[in-house]
Formats: sequence, C-alpha cells, structure tokens
Amino acid sequence: MKTPIRVAVTGAAGQIGYSLLFRIASGAMFGPEQPLILQLIEAPIEKAMQALTGVAMEVDDCAFPLVKSMILTDKPEVGFKDANWCLLVGAKPRGPGMERADLLKDNGKIFIAQGKVIDAVAADDARIAVVGNPANTNCMIAASQAKRLPADRFTAMVRLDQNRAQAQLAKKSGKDLTDVKDIFIYGNHSPTMFPAYQHATIGGKPAAQVINDLPWLQGAFCETVGKRGAAIIAARGSSSAASAANALVDHVHDLMTPGKIHSVGVKSGGAYGFDPNVWAGMPVRTVSPGAWEPINSYAMDDFARTKLAATNKELVEERAMVADMLK
Ligand code: NAD
Ligand code: LMR
Repeated sequence: MKTPIRVAVTGAAGQIGYSLLFRIASGAMFGPEQPLILQLIEAPIEKAMQALTGVAMEVDDCAFPLVKSMILTDKPEVGFKDANWCLLVGAKPRGPGMERADLLKDNGKIFIAQGKVIDAVAADDARIAVVGNPANTNCMIAASQAKRLPADRFTAMVRLDQNRAQAQLAKKSGKDLTDVKDIFIYGNHSPTMFPAYQHATIGGKPAAQVINDLPWLQGAFCETVGKRGAAIIAARGSSSAASAANALVDHVHDLMTPGKIHSVGVKSGGAYGFDPNVWAGMPVRTVSPGAWEPINSYAMDDFARTKLAATNKELVEERAMVADMLK
C-alpha cells in the first residue's frame, strides 16, 4: 500500500466541490492505487462549514477505499498543512452580464492569504492548481506570495477550455472525440483565449483540412470556446460545475502523468511573446509527476499572432489591476 498523499481543496462545499470531491475520492485524479487524506477547507461562515459537514458525510457514505481520513476546517493553516496538492477552487463565481475579471477585487485577496499560508505550511513537494476566477491572475497573485515554493508549482486551469475546444471540433467534423488531437489553449481563461486550431489534427489530418471552413474556425469556433462559460451561466443560471471539476481532474491527472501534453496556465517566461511574468495557457509536457516543461516551438501564423497579442494585453491589464496585491 502506498503512503497516502494529502490533497487540500478550498471551496469544498461549493458547486464545483460537490462534483470534485467524489471524483478525487474515487481515484480519478491520482489513480486507483493512491490512498488519500482529504483536507477540506471552507470559508469561516457557519452555513458553509455546516454544508461541508454534509458533503463529508456523503463522502463517508460512498465508502471509498482510497480515502483514509478527512479534515474539515475553516483555517487555511490547518487545511494546507503538509498538503502535497492544493486545489484552490473557493472563490466567488460570476453571474450573468459579468466578465471573470470583474471578480478580481473580491477574489484576488483570497489568493494573497492562501498563497502565504501554502508557502508557510504545505509539503516541500506541494503543487497548486487555481480554479477560482479569474484563474490566471489569481494564480499569479498566489505565486507572488511564495518565497519557498518556486513559481512553476503554481498552475492555473485552462483545461476546461481545451476540453470544450476538442468537443466542438469533434461535433463540427462529425468525427469521434478521440480522433481530435493537439488542440491547445493559449492565454487567459477569458473570451480572449486562443484555441489554436492550426496545430490540431482530426484522424491524423490537419483539423483545418478536415473541417475546411476557415471562417468557422476563426470565428464561431473561437467565439464558442471563449464564451462557453457565459453561455452555461445563461442556460443554467449558475456557472459550470461538473465540467469544471472534470477539467481539474484532467489537469492534475495529466500533470502527474509523464509524457502527457496538455494545456496549462503557467508563468509564461516569455514563450509565444507573452509577458514573461503573466500566467498564460500554453501546451506543456509533463516530464515527471508534478513537473512540466513548456512546449514553445509551435509556429504561429498572422491570425494566431494577433490573438496571442490580444490575450497577452488582457493579462497584462489584469496584472496592473492587482498591482497592490503582488509581492
Ligand atoms: P460556489 O459559490 O458554488 O462555491 C465556492 C465556495 O467557495 C463556497 O462554498 C464558498 O463558501 C467557498 N469559499 C469562498 N471563499 C473561500 C475561502 N477564502 N476559503 C475557502 N473557501 C471559500 O462557486 P463554484 O461554482 O464552486 O465556483 C468556484 C470558483 O471557480 C468561481 O470563482 C468560479 O468562477 C470558478 N470557476 C473556474 C473555472 C475555470 O475553468 N477556471 C470553471 C468554473 C468555475
Ligand atoms: C467557465 O468557463 O465555465 C467558468 O470560468 C465559469 C465562468 O464564469 O464562465
């Protein structure tokens, strides 16, 4: 039997938490052989902690063999203690008519506090995945608080966008989802994100050749993927939850699986012309469990360069909005 790993989840009693915990506990994130200690963190609000108690009762009632124990807390220093993975979901979601960046002033400060505590008490090998919106900039805020943990441990989730793009390409081409490969997301988790159809393949052929509809690829496709979150809010009345939890399972699973190539929001280091200090989505290759390297060699055409510049501009503007939250 392997040693249990400690997985801290914030916002554990929220919408995403309610889908996520059961997927983690079943082994979907870390595999069927990996025992877990779940460290569930909620806001210091009586109703939230009470709801968390109910969710934990349901985890108990699933009798998941991998779950060795659970900690329920509203104290980040308890919840992040010795955590190997910190999944930062807890934050306000947007409502209709809002952009994700409108959440910055409220949500940004959560990530200052959590970044500091994680750096102080989490395990030496701690990895952090940020879901709370706006995810890229919140991730940058949390990473900026860290002195012990290096910036490459902090990743923002753009995997939902990759999964959305893959599904759209499969639908449009009429091919099976598994035929669609190498579709990656660049930039911000916002409508400016760029799903680079130029590198995608369907059944081994270039996606652009199979679909043969450039106006759709450059127009409706990019727009549908970029605005899917808002479309779900409009239809459901609240933001995506099960698909977001599923994307986080994919994000962490693939970061723990050497050889996987997938879209992750990372400190750009200047790749693809991004400002070196913003967290931008791009393809990365997992080199060993939890460690990645950027794939920065994809050629970009004029259309792609314009899209990359627009999403970079937005990330730089978001950074300016939170300059007082960065260390
Ligand atoms: P929700 O309101 O249902 O749940 C959020 C939970 O976080 C609540 O239970 C709340 O009490 C808790 N919380 C708030 N502040 C906290 C803190 N400081 N510490 C711990 N817990 C705290 O929201 P949700 O639908 O689960 O969404 C959570 C976040 O994820 C939102 O910001 C949403 O916009 C974002 N999101 C991101 C993506 C993505 O692709 N990156 C996708 C979907 C949703
Ligand atoms: C999404 O993409 O579904 C989430 O980021 C929620 C939102 O606000 O759109």
